[in-house]
Amino acid sequence: MIQWNPYTPGYFENPYAHVAQCRTELPIQKGIHKEWVIFGHKEVKEVLRSASFRVLNLSDYFKEKEPLIVAPGTCPFLAMGTQTWIMYLNGGEHTCVRNLADMALRQIDFKPIIAEAVDHCFAQYSNKATVDIVDIATQIPLYIVEKMLGISGLCSYEQLKRFSHLVAISQDIFVSKHTYRDINEEFRWAFTFFEQLYQQAGEQNPQRVISFLKQFNHAHTEPLEKNEIISLIILLLMAALETTKDTMSVMLYEIMKDKQLGDYILSATDTEINVLSEELIRIASPLQYTVRVADEDVEIGGHHFPRNTKLFLCLASANRDPDVFPDPDAIQAKRNYNPHLSFGSGVHSCLGARIARNEIRSWLKPVTKHLQHYHLPADTKPVWQKTIFMRGIKSLTVVHNPSA
Ligand code: HEM
Repeated sequence: MIQWNPYTPGYFENPYAHVAQCRTELPIQKGIHKEWVIFGHKEVKEVLRSASFRVLNLSDYFKEKEPLIVAPGTCPFLAMGTQTWIMYLNGGEHTCVRNLADMALRQIDFKPIIAEAVDHCFAQYSNKATVDIVDIATQIPLYIVEKMLGISGLCSYEQLKRFSHLVAISQDIFVSKHTYRDINEEFRWAFTFFEQLYQQAGEQNPQRVISFLKQFNHAHTEPLEKNEIISLIILLLMAALETTKDTMSVMLYEIMKDKQLGDYILSATDTEINVLSEELIRIASPLQYTVRVADEDVEIGGHHFPRNTKLFLCLASANRDPDVFPDPDAIQAKRNYNPHLSFGSGVHSCLGARIARNEIRSWLKPVTKHLQHYHLPADTKPVWQKTIFMRGIKSLTVVHNPSA
């Protein structure tokens, strides 16, 4: 009987064959790490929406594990940098920090920023002989993050891209000690950088979300401490940049592989673009797994899980469950019923889903038009990131057409 093993050869290139086999043969099982893994859409959604489960606190995990994963006291920024990451908070603390971030994000009119981002994105790529599509996919979310936080021009593209990617990896399973040390250094850099901005932020010197967070936080009965606000800023940066970049990279790969898909996009109406965007978000599934812990004894899919059982929920598999999505591996441009879980579900569902959807919808047609001047050389395959919980392309070079 199949056992879930993300180290199966070829998994990083294509996890879907393996998770489909798990879903078919043993949809609730103990994987290679002896953790329970759930693969079916119905059960994954049920757990996400259930009040009987809590999220794991990543910061507490780091506090507890730091002496084991690295030497004691050597990586304090792992716990400090993740202390107010909303997806790892429960109960009243979760509600309070989520509401604070939500209020701050709602102060920003993202529509003109997204329009500017789309214009800005392609200017630097015209007439280049080769382009890495991951760079194109990074431009829009990066531009938006810079505007959202008011940090345009304050640090380089490379710094932000590396930072966001490394801090995102802190959530993955089986991260090497060496990588944890690198992540700690990235958090250290961010605390210095954002502390300065936090001090300056205010009505006279608006740093967008940073100013709003500071302002709303002061109005709270139990305000967060400065370091907690900085941890929240880091989360918003990472959450807004990493998942959107990974989604857009996979979309671009699909468009480059399939000329018919590109042609469809170019002639699609706004409604058709919205429907297709949703389908491409389902196909990309950048967050492939998330974790929940049972708060009490609970029954899911005929299995009894005692209190404190940890479950890995395979969003990637749920999004391709044929019971919900007929012909699940195919991109169906007109898949109108599309209850995918790429943005999660329940109390922890993605806070930035509205922003991400607007970005993708506004960008899909212009980017396809731009990429008409490029082709994917025969046999060129993407280099995939070597991460399990998050999936994205590390690099994929496309080449300018000679006649274009
Ligand atoms: C295509 C882009 C995106 C995808 C696929 C995505 C996906 C997700 C998923 C699956 C979750 C739930 C995690 C869980 O239940 O364990 C989540 C949570 C979250 N996302 Fe996103 N996200 C995207 C873009 C964004 C953006 C643009 C922002 C901010 C501007 C953002 C902010 C957040 C936050 C703050 C949470 C935590 C919510 C909570 O726990 O209450 N995301 N995201």
